[in-house]
Amino acid sequence: MNWPTGEAALVTGAASGIGFGVAHALVAAGAKVALVDIDEARLAGAEQSLRDAGGTVLALPFDISETDRWESTADRAEEALGPISILCNVAGVNGGTTADRTPLQVWRWVHGVNLDAQFASVAAFLPRFKSRGGRSHIVNTSSISGLIPMAGVAAYTSSKFASVGLSMALREELAGTDVGVSLLVPGAVATPINFNAGAAEAKLLGREMDAAVAEKNSALLLQGADPGRVGEQVVEALQQKQFMVVTHREWGPFAAHVHREIERAYEEFDGRHGPDPVATAMAAGEETISS
Ligand SMILES: NC(=O)c1ccc[n+]([C@@H]2O[C@H](COP(=O)([O-])OP(=O)(O)OC[C@H]3O[C@@H](n4cnc5c(N)ncnc54)[C@H](O)[C@@H]3O)[C@@H](O)[C@H]2O)c1
Repeated sequence: MNWPTGEAALVTGAASGIGFGVAHALVAAGAKVALVDIDEARLAGAEQSLRDAGGTVLALPFDISETDRWESTADRAEEALGPISILCNVAGVNGGTTADRTPLQVWRWVHGVNLDAQFASVAAFLPRFKSRGGRSHIVNTSSISGLIPMAGVAAYTSSKFASVGLSMALREELAGTDVGVSLLVPGAVATPINFNAGAAEAKLLGREMDAAVAEKNSALLLQGADPGRVGEQVVEALQQKQFMVVTHREWGPFAAHVHREIERAYEEFDGRHGPDPVATAMAAGEETISS
């Protein structure tokens, strides 16, 4: 059988956009899927449409940033679908604005959904993956804003850079095991994220959503990639154990510019502190951090 046929997966953000695309592609590949989202009504619609498509799916609505609910969610998913071997963290919110105009409450909400939930879901599932053995896979969703700093969305950029860091550390920690890691870095994908996250942010702050702003920010996004095709790409990536999953070539030179700045800082530095013992040990292939 072609992996992941017959496996069980859990996908967050499954009610909309890329998360729904990933869930759909997993169903098409013959996997059973637990569907997680905070929007219960939209999730029920997604569950129905995936069932209509012949899928074995189960809706588990909850707020993924409530980190202490992950263990019980994992239990419920596994009671219904059997051992989960694929965890796809897709849910995300692009709230906030410039750093000086982002309330702490919004900062914490954005990091809670985009980062803490990724950590908490891994904390719930990774020990299960390891103790059961066999092939498993974790997909975390960052953004091009996680590789290139985007002015005007400071909290989003911070949370998405952190997701890259978390995923790269995980990949190192799991090297040589049967647990694969992928990092999805979407460019523009045609989803209603500005409306969904805009409405959630307005609710958090107890005000009306500015639909005109959401519409303006969506104009280019809605000309982006098809979320269903991105979902198919994610399933291909986990089949092929591909780490970095990007959606548009045009971002390559922007990423190179960021990395070039880092390289230049080292090239131009005068070396006044002498050799770094940790870097020297790492270069020699030695373990530098004990755990
Ligand atoms: N659309 C793009 O162009 C784009 C670009 C880069 C990165 N991304 C990332 O892709 C991911 C998916 O985004 P999308 O564009 O499909 O957005 P979307 O709004 O269509 O879907 C996100 C889903 O996450 C859910 N969600 C939000 N907060 C939640 C919470 N606290 N608990 C559970 N579910 C929650 C929403 O209800 C929604 O259904 C996000 O992580 C986003 O940051 C999207």
